[in-house]
Amino acid sequence: MKTKVCRKAHFNAAHRLHNEFLSEEENQRLFGKCNNPNFHGHNYELIVCVEGEIDPKTGFVMDMKTLETLIKIHIEEAFDHKNLNLEVVDFQELNPTAEHIAQVIYNRLRPHIQESLKMEITLYETPRNFVVFSE
Ligand code: NI
Repeated sequence: MKTKVCRKAHFNAAHRLHNEFLSEEENQRLFGKCNNPNFHGHNYELIVCVEGEIDPKTGFVMDMKTLETLIKIHIEEAFDHKNLNLEVVDFQELNPTAEHIAQVIYNRLRPHIQESLKMEITLYETPRNFVVFSE
């Protein structure tokens, strides 16, 4: 039997979707408004879930306070009020789509979370558009 526990978080960030190997027309066709060279912002909503057995000693799958702190240090402090393309090293050569941002969030958190716990990252770019990255 497994239990999934989740923590919500939030950050505001700017980005531009662009593939330097494609023509301006192709970029415009693929990314539309999100290709605006002057960037634009989103209010990202993040849900980080870990799934595993309940530790009989604590009654927890994972201490939520620890998860909260990890998200704060590795995600919120790194991404909040930043231009993802220009200020976050992970996106220097990676198009900051919601899919890629979720993947980067996973890669940043994974080393700090017990290996036996399965992770899942849900990232809302708008209230209606979201992506789920899971192992
Ligand atoms: Ni966008």
